[in-house]
Amino acid sequence: MGAVTQIPVKINFNSLAEKVVERCRVLASYSEDAGSIRRTFLSPPMHDVHLAITRWLEPLGATTRIDAAGNLRAIYPATEMPAPTLLIGSHLDTVPNAGAYDGILGVALAVALLEALDRETLPYAIEVIGFSEEEGVRFGVPFIGSRALVGRLGADLLNAKDANGISVKEAIRAFGLDPRDINHAAITSDTCAYVEFHIEQGPVLEKFGLQLAAVEAIAGQHRLEFTFIGRANHAGTTPMDLRFDAVAAAAEWIASVERLAKETPGLVATVGSVQTKPGATNVIAGETRVSLDVRHRGDAVRTRAVDELTKEAERIARRRGLSIRSVEHLNQAAVAMDPFLTTQIEQAIREAGCTPHRMVSGAGHDAMILAEKVLSAMIFLRTPGGVSHDPAESVVVDDVSRAIECGVHLLHQLAATPNFQTRTYRA
Ligand code: GLV
Ligand code: MN
Ligand code: MN
Repeated sequence: MGAVTQIPVKINFNSLAEKVVERCRVLASYSEDAGSIRRTFLSPPMHDVHLAITRWLEPLGATTRIDAAGNLRAIYPATEMPAPTLLIGSHLDTVPNAGAYDGILGVALAVALLEALDRETLPYAIEVIGFSEEEGVRFGVPFIGSRALVGRLGADLLNAKDANGISVKEAIRAFGLDPRDINHAAITSDTCAYVEFHIEQGPVLEKFGLQLAAVEAIAGQHRLEFTFIGRANHAGTTPMDLRFDAVAAAAEWIASVERLAKETPGLVATVGSVQTKPGATNVIAGETRVSLDVRHRGDAVRTRAVDELTKEAERIARRRGLSIRSVEHLNQAAVAMDPFLTTQIEQAIREAGCTPHRMVSGAGHDAMILAEKVLSAMIFLRTPGGVSHDPAESVVVDDVSRAIECGVHLLHQLAATPNFQTRTYRA
């Protein structure tokens, strides 16, 4: 157990929470699409997001910069500098037709924590981070922003192309940044830990009537793309037994994806994107490209499922006289969060007047990448209706208020923890 901490009574957590929610709504208005939220890696509206957050951070005593991977970073100094740094944040990109809180809430909440500190300094510095990319929408590969922090944004990924043939490197240049500076985005040994607030994006907390959870692990995930290649032909003149229909093959396989996931406890598998070529009503599709997302808390179950589904795609293609191509975009192992930080978070949740819940995250998060280099932990906020990746995504103001209060307690607990700053506190 860490030290019990006193926090200034003057903090009005409720009004800070209202401000956080309002700020998420402001950021939601910066979108690539009129009438809905879409903000992919370094798309033009990300400039507006950076500007708005910088304007919120600088009066609080933080110094901001945008690193070469497009991550917004702000340093709030320690009582004495140089000092070890606690990183707090989440991501600023979104899926298409997104809600206003996935990722963004974690960044707005980190800003609110600095506001709650009201220029009080701690024995460690705080770096607020808004990651440029976590969803994997534009390049099919997620975590571009956090990979840069752990030194994993290498040549292969920099040269990956989006649907318009623009590479990650070119997108960085088009945004006014220099990909040759990527190495300077990496964290140094000064960074001692990473903490991320995020909406749960599922129904568990709501089901238990609880507001906040400490995350003990994040499920592993695979992302792949399969292309069924048949032969395009006339829809009116080609008899059914003489077709090499790529859509029909993909449809048969998609049904088997759902079947396997339903039969395997804890497995979730999703085909979220289907693209056909040439894509006309009166043409048998010559090519169908489908995405596959597979997740499980156990890496062996997930890997076995992906092998099975790959073999099934090959079997279906062979039987129908088609060929098949597959590309793996992500094979991310499940990641445990740091047990010491997780226990500290549970204590901070209690100090904020809530009953803590412990859970495994089914969604991927930047914390699973940061955990490769620094001790990492997450706090989940209840998600009304369990709805996320959808415009109906929402939060409860009192949950946000409790999350800020929990964050302030956590900051003080860590300040009072012997050796936290020297990263020997686990020993
Ligand atoms: C991120 O939102 C994910 O797909 O887990
Ligand atoms: Mn998401
Ligand atoms: Mn997210």
